[in-house]
Amino acid sequence: MRLRSTKRHWEKFARSDPFWAVLTTEGKRGNQWQVDEFFSTGVATVDAELAGVRAEIPSLRFGRALDFGCGVGRLTQALARHFSTVVGVDIAEEMLVRARSYNRHGDRVSYVLNTRDDLSQFPDQQFDFVYSLITLQHMEPVYACRYIAEFVRLAAPGGVILFQIPAVGVRAIRGRRPFTLWPDTLLKRLYRDLRQKFAVDPVMEMHGIPRQEIESLLVSSGAELVRSYRYDAAGEQLESWGYLARKL
Ligand SMILES: C[S@@+](CC[C@H](N)C(=O)[O-])C[C@H]1O[C@@H](n2cnc3c(N)ncnc32)[C@H](O)[C@@H]1O
Repeated sequence: MRLRSTKRHWEKFARSDPFWAVLTTEGKRGNQWQVDEFFSTGVATVDAELAGVRAEIPSLRFGRALDFGCGVGRLTQALARHFSTVVGVDIAEEMLVRARSYNRHGDRVSYVLNTRDDLSQFPDQQFDFVYSLITLQHMEPVYACRYIAEFVRLAAPGGVILFQIPAVGVRAIRGRRPFTLWPDTLLKRLYRDLRQKFAVDPVMEMHGIPRQEIESLLVSSGAELVRSYRYDAAGEQLESWGYLARKL
């Protein structure tokens, strides 16, 4: 899917079931997440993750952080408990509208739309911490790789980059199953494809990138790989890997 289509699907997810689109936990489809319960998953994730990073990189600075693919701000809000300023970036304006309404940290947090396949709206070396969870998997690998190289460009020297992405591709997740009284005929598949094409039911693309490719990309972009590790993100059952890197 090209980025323009990816955006269209995420706008639709944001309007119909934003929390479930972020965390596709069983039983939470159809706006079943409670706001506090949902945001507390972000606090638990960020607190645990930062404790691990600090243990490994004691020089981590808590100035400015970037949350790429911030959605409704689940992790952005949690990062603001640790960092002086946090910028959440997303491709879907409808996600950002909701993120701003849940902001509890005033102007220490800003939410910025980015529809480009790069992050050129941000100057070099301005973030102490660049973070991205359960986002890079939802776009074609060619885009994910571009953004990862951008993460390295945006990190200040000595800055920390932490993100997760599956190592293998998996099937797309659909927002709502189409009407299924018919057997799986050609006609049914055509109907399903048309519904997706016109975003009647939004689709979450799922992609993976082999671990060695990511590791080489980080190094060729100017980062040192501190650690790659099996990472099972909340709400996901994928063979994901986490990458912790430091800008040289
Ligand atoms: C599953 S949600 C995760 C949100 C957040 N990282 C979290 O864990 O709470 C994925 C988010 O990535 C955003 N997204 C998808 N493709 C993107 C892109 N190319 N650039 C920026 N954001 C993107 C979607 O709009 C969506 O808000």
